[in-house]
Amino acid sequence: MSQPHLRTVVVLAAGEGKRMKSDLPKVLHPLLGRTLIGHVLTAAAPLGAERTVVVVGHRAEQVREHLSEVAPQATPVLQERQLGTGHAVRIALEAVPDGTGTVVVLNGDVPLLRAETVAALVEAHEGAGAAATVLAAAVPDPTGLGRIVRDDSGRLERIVEERDATPAQRELREINAGIYAFDAVRLREALGKLSTDNDQGEEYLTDVFELFASAGEPVAVHVAGDHTETLGCNDRVELAGLRRLLRDRVNEAWMRTGVTVLDPATTWIDVTATVERDAVIDQNTQLQGATVVGAGALVGPDTTLVDTTVAEGASVVRSHAVGAEVGPQASVGPYAYLRPESRLGRKAKVGTFVETKKATIGEGSKVPHLSYVGDATIGEHSNIGAATVFVNYDGVKKHHTTIGSHARTGADNMFVAPVEVGDGAYTAAGSVIIADVPPGAMAVARGQQRNVDGWVLRKRAGTAAAEAARRACEGASDSADTASEGD
Ligand code: UD1
Ligand code: MG
Repeated sequence: MSQPHLRTVVVLAAGEGKRMKSDLPKVLHPLLGRTLIGHVLTAAAPLGAERTVVVVGHRAEQVREHLSEVAPQATPVLQERQLGTGHAVRIALEAVPDGTGTVVVLNGDVPLLRAETVAALVEAHEGAGAAATVLAAAVPDPTGLGRIVRDDSGRLERIVEERDATPAQRELREINAGIYAFDAVRLREALGKLSTDNDQGEEYLTDVFELFASAGEPVAVHVAGDHTETLGCNDRVELAGLRRLLRDRVNEAWMRTGVTVLDPATTWIDVTATVERDAVIDQNTQLQGATVVGAGALVGPDTTLVDTTVAEGASVVRSHAVGAEVGPQASVGPYAYLRPESRLGRKAKVGTFVETKKATIGEGSKVPHLSYVGDATIGEHSNIGAATVFVNYDGVKKHHTTIGSHARTGADNMFVAPVEVGDGAYTAAGSVIIADVPPGAMAVARGQQRNVDGWVLRKRAGTAAAEAARRACEGASDSADTASEGD
């Protein structure tokens, strides 16, 4: 019976990444919206592989848990001791049934790899009927990487690690990216023959190439046009370098679709965010997670949006938002904080030093200044006075406040939830609203004002305030005299 022809993806992610000096496994470090391994799995996804195996080892539980979120179809396989990349692939293949076809191997720490590049590598490999194909690139600085050694006619002879290389081989600038396609059957055979006769005493996957080449099996090199795609990540400095490269790539792609990015060097857009045409992203701005910025919207400067939707024509200036929805032509900031489940309707406004949470602010309604709006529903075209607090927490539970449409609430109000203010109602400045206000009513909930005439002149005699008061009182009586004289 013939075996099925399958594509298998193997991602190597068992290593510790010592130089990261981190409690987090290297492949779980985040990079503009995905972890390192998340980027690699995304690049491999369009291959439509029947099986994806991820070799885990160092802090395997953490990596497994992450995989269950981002790639539940992938099978984690435990490599208890990191005995080399060849050993890792051997273990991976032992965990899946035999089959003919292609095995694509990717290092888990090469996050800038493009899906098109992996696809082109696999296509070239399968088209040529090669036993093995390696992704290579000419890099400015090959330090620490495996070098591609070719014979006089340019055919690949072997891949040699820097630590095992001769001085002449170290001069080579063409490096192994750690991304390969193999013929499944021949790979299984070759993995059984790997030695550990090298500087690290490990089973090197790369030795498979020399085994094939010396046996006359066809091996190929696929050269990446953009060498930055092949960059690995070994420490935090490299991670920062990769982040800058990815930032530039993402910004450039959005600019080419018609987005204005005023300062690409300080604009950080996650690969998972979306920006529509004619949006303007001002400097020092981060668009993270599932953030969507609509057509013609203005975001920034100095703004961070996480999982936030900004509809067309809206503006968000010097603000921070998490899990919020900003409606069309709405306006936010400067200096606003929108927390999860904040929903602003069309042309709504959340102004300066305003914090919102679980708050629906209807079409055309405004919370312009210095306020906290939590657990609230505000209808349409209402205005909330400056320095208002929606008092939602009784120390144990959160309660809801509802403000109707076309309401006008005074400055410095407290809405002690649960409470409701009806449509078209007013509240007086300084009110603490603890009872419902019917539609159209004016609620006044504050002490009566009492003026004690002449108090300062009597009790603070000789002070500058008393002098000023005296002058003001005399002036008033003089002008009263003059006025009466004129009559
Ligand atoms: C490897 C290649 C090198 C290439 C470089 C590209 C080998 C022998 N060398 O070197 O030619 O230029 O990648 O970045 O393959 N891993 C395991 N189990 C192990 C060992 C490694 O899962 O037992 C994983 C690591 O977590 C990592 C990947 O394999 O994701 C590569 O391992 P690493 O130790 O970084 O290999 P390099 O020395 O960088
Ligand atoms: Mg490495």
